[in-house]
Amino acid sequence: MNHNQIKTEFQGDIAKITSVEEINNLRVKYLGRKGVVTLALRELGKLPQTERPKAGKALNQLQAEIRNELSKKQKELSTDKFRAIGETEKIDITVPGIAPERGSLHPVGVLISEMEDIFRRLGYSIVRTREVEDDWHNFEGLNVPADHPAKDMWDTFYVNTDSADNSRHTGRVHLSTPGEDLADERYEEELEIEKGELAGLNLLRTHTSTAQTRIMEEFKPPMKVISSGRVYRYEAEDATHLSVFHQLEGFAVDKNLTMADLKGTLTHLFQSLFGSDIKIRFRPSFFPFTEPSAEVDVTCIFCKGKGCKSCGGAGWLELLGAGMIHPNVLRNMKIDPAVWQGFAFGMGPDRIAMLRHGVDDVRQFFSGDLRFLRQL
Ligand code: PHE
Repeated sequence: MNHNQIKTEFQGDIAKITSVEEINNLRVKYLGRKGVVTLALRELGKLPQTERPKAGKALNQLQAEIRNELSKKQKELSTDKFRAIGETEKIDITVPGIAPERGSLHPVGVLISEMEDIFRRLGYSIVRTREVEDDWHNFEGLNVPADHPAKDMWDTFYVNTDSADNSRHTGRVHLSTPGEDLADERYEEELEIEKGELAGLNLLRTHTSTAQTRIMEEFKPPMKVISSGRVYRYEAEDATHLSVFHQLEGFAVDKNLTMADLKGTLTHLFQSLFGSDIKIRFRPSFFPFTEPSAEVDVTCIFCKGKGCKSCGGAGWLELLGAGMIHPNVLRNMKIDPAVWQGFAFGMGPDRIAMLRHGVDDVRQFFSGDLRFLRQL
């Protein structure tokens, strides 16, 4: 075989190689004592004197080339990958690694579990209900009729489920990115939907009071329930408003329940959280699903009633909506209001956590910034 034939054959052989063992076989085949190249070199003597130097030089070069190719291939196939990389890239294996960031419980979540613990000791059941709701569970069942102006208390995200299998829910998408300007053209367009049409749409729950309708329709009284989670409102976002935030709802249905039970329960909650010197007070208010309704103030946790910056000098913080469950709601749930009474309350844990940690912009809670969360 001449130098060109050997080269072609070798290239064919090495292309098929998949293991280090095969490399050794090739090394023997070409460079061994009886190898192809070795033999060809030995045959040189048979060539005419004039051709010998040229052919010799070519064979020597080929021999070196084959040796190189084989050791290159060996490195590639070497199981010790790290050493192979290390030889070309230089990795300093003594440099300390980068520790993965460790998360922590979120301050809002911590507050919610503390409240749940307090209520659990009072015999409450802790439940979660769905975030995508229908009009009935969010409004109608809670005594908010379709065309009632009170419905405007909750700016609602409607969900277009046109494409879903449930043909009852048709209509335009009302979903928008949080913080979107309310003057946005799309908003104008959405307002053209008839109020009656909206009643057929699914929506993102605007409050956790949906737990009242969900649980009361499924269980018989007496019952004591706490339900928290995300709620959604079509709002422009600022330091005190988010379009996705949290609520914690509580309600009880039993015989002989009165406003005094409501007040005692809430007093217990806030004294457990913030100390025994905390008081609460009720101011008359309106909610379609409670009668009477109250806005509930809690002694300012900073100045304990003296008046400070946090409470705007009032000595009180406005923290909850509450009241006695409206007889219409009980009737909607097939519960006889002549036999059973209920109270209900709802509050925003985000706001309470803000107060607790002296955070002045609620958006920080949802920034996901570990530096912020670690400070708390
Ligand atoms: N659901 C009311 C709201 O979101 C709060 C509330 C709950 C009021 C329960 C009374 C009773 O504004």
